[in-house]
Amino acid sequence: MNTLSKPKILVARAIFPDTLELLESLFDVHSNQADRILSPAELQEALSSVSGALVAGSERIDQQALSRAKNLKVVANISVGYNNFDVAAISAAGVMATNTPDVLTDTTADFGFALLMSTARRITESEHWVREGKWDKWSIVNNPLGMDLHHSTLGIIGMGRIGQGIAKRALGFGMKVVYHNRNRLSKEDELACGATYLNKEELLREADHVVLVLPYTPENHHAIGVNEIALMKPTATLVNIARGGIVDDNALAQALQSGKIFAAGLDVFEGEPVVNPELLKCRNIVIAPHIASATEKTRRAMVALAIENLRAALTGQKPPSLINPEVWGKN
Ligand code: DGY
Repeated sequence: MNTLSKPKILVARAIFPDTLELLESLFDVHSNQADRILSPAELQEALSSVSGALVAGSERIDQQALSRAKNLKVVANISVGYNNFDVAAISAAGVMATNTPDVLTDTTADFGFALLMSTARRITESEHWVREGKWDKWSIVNNPLGMDLHHSTLGIIGMGRIGQGIAKRALGFGMKVVYHNRNRLSKEDELACGATYLNKEELLREADHVVLVLPYTPENHHAIGVNEIALMKPTATLVNIARGGIVDDNALAQALQSGKIFAAGLDVFEGEPVVNPELLKCRNIVIAPHIASATEKTRRAMVALAIENLRAALTGQKPPSLINPEVWGKN
């Protein structure tokens, strides 16, 4: 393939240098190794001249972004969540949309469990306490006392692959697992994760720990707000590894400050990377910068799957994780 015949692609965010080299051997690549997030106008301009694009959650792909994308065949998200895609607009433009499921399930479930443990056992708060010189003695009552995970009830809202992975980990801790999901799991899957279906309100009332792993959709905006938090136990923890916007961050900050719930662990935020200053004031919170899938092995696997999706789409094959199959064969 000479350079002139190579399809032109956009790589909208920085990727591993060796992977970029591989891409450059196959495509005419317009890359962004500086990792500066493109403005909507820059994204629209960049998409106007390419056949394929590797993007991430920072790139909103909607009618406006696609308005000049006359040759675009595929937008490949390097992410399993695709709330940055307006799928209807992408399909209307005859463009294939893909994501990266499966390859990050275990890494993300591990992290969900780690965040849950840190939150319930006050690990980051304890570290600050030690660093601030407050640890002057071992004490039965005056050291940071946490909440147990073992033999408590874990409530998982959003029981897809990652939610099920967290449930399986919880079994090893002797936890009772209850879940809520748009669709109830098959009996077989419920048995495999030892999980019992509850409606959302029942789950919030019963759970000692609540983990959110549901997709962000307009219906799930502020799925956890003042009313939902009011149902939770004052001793409960809330962990969000799904998306900002699912939790009303103002309501959560107030609940943490007034002791309505015990603690929260957050990997995602409304308007991230900016974090609500009221949340930053709370001591009973563990904060992470959207890193649930962030191990090098998994991030490489996500990029590799996104590239495979893009390569397939540009060589007339069906991408392995096509989100909008109705477009397949039509462009
Ligand atoms: C995902 O894959 O959805 C992760 O949250 C990264 O965006």
